[in-house]
Amino acid sequence: MAVLPGDGIGPEVIAEARTTLELAAELGGFAVELESFEQAGGEYLVRTGTPMATELPGRLREFDAILAGPFGDPRVDDAVVLWGTILELRQRFDQYVNLRPARSLPGVPCRLRGVDEFDVVVVRENTEGEYAGAGGRVHRAGENEVAIEASVFTRAGIERVIRYAFDYASTHGRRRVTSATKSNALRHAMPFWDEVFGAVAGEYPQIESDSVLVDALAARVVSDPGSLEVIVASNLFGDVLSDLTAAASGSLGIAPSANLDPSRAHPSLFQAVHGSAPDIAGRGVANPVAEILAVALMLEFLGQADSAAAIVDAVGQGTAAPATRTPDLGGQATTLEAGEAIRSAMVASCAPRRRRARAGS
Ligand code: IPM
Ligand code: MN
Repeated sequence: MAVLPGDGIGPEVIAEARTTLELAAELGGFAVELESFEQAGGEYLVRTGTPMATELPGRLREFDAILAGPFGDPRVDDAVVLWGTILELRQRFDQYVNLRPARSLPGVPCRLRGVDEFDVVVVRENTEGEYAGAGGRVHRAGENEVAIEASVFTRAGIERVIRYAFDYASTHGRRRVTSATKSNALRHAMPFWDEVFGAVAGEYPQIESDSVLVDALAARVVSDPGSLEVIVASNLFGDVLSDLTAAASGSLGIAPSANLDPSRAHPSLFQAVHGSAPDIAGRGVANPVAEILAVALMLEFLGQADSAAAIVDAVGQGTAAPATRTPDLGGQATTLEAGEAIRSAMVASCAPRRRRARAGS
């Protein structure tokens, strides 16, 4: 596995994610080899004048998966860093699904009044749509200056991400997929999106489907989250909705994401949803939960579902008590202490299973 520590709090949360991954491998009886690459990010741009070393994507291509910290540094332009790193990798490695589960955790309750458990998965298109990068700016700084940001929607691109959402629902015990649209105002791309959604939905009669205007859908995340299970959305809509679902579930500090090429032709990339938080970097108080849950998404994708479930369970035991959760969640733990608590819980829940296995053999 390749590791990109990223910027700001990245190295701190990545350190916890790595150790947790290594422990999961030891307890689960499988091997992981980790190789860390520092040649990407805002810091790297400050040092070298380029956001990512030219040879890095070629190196990353050789790995099964990439575990990445957040990118962004206040000293340099975010767009240069992000188009030079994460957005570039999503397109280059055809990571067309951005999977973003948002679930409340013990000790991190849902922020919506009267909702005990928030559990909504956003499947975001990740390579085209509004973030295709197509367009341009002409007559710079003149009175006639023009900027065009063209959305790019292809049948193949829409179909594969919607199909992934239905397959995900089918294999994860979910009964409904909700599509985010805006075909009342966007006259070309969204009716096209809706048509493809209708056709794919027809192939999954056992899964309910509905199509909701994205503004109304945002309201529904707040007013009736229990009616939502899996949301499938274009790149921009999914970006916005997934911050909303993460914050509603309890905190952005607990939300992981998986940038997937489900065909496995290229490595997939696993990362926290939150940013690099330069204001608290280096102080040892960053919350490692989102990055550790990204490790769980990685293990599930790589076929280690039991180990992934064990991490999710241990994270919940860690966040349950103020002593073992970080200050952003109203706790007192450092980044390291929060990580250690999660790992202790993994070891503790594994020990009885191992004893039983030995007794039975
Ligand atoms: C995310 C981030 C990125 C995105 C930014 C940093 C380009 O907000 O992963 O959601 O918008 O995709
Ligand atoms: Mn975002």
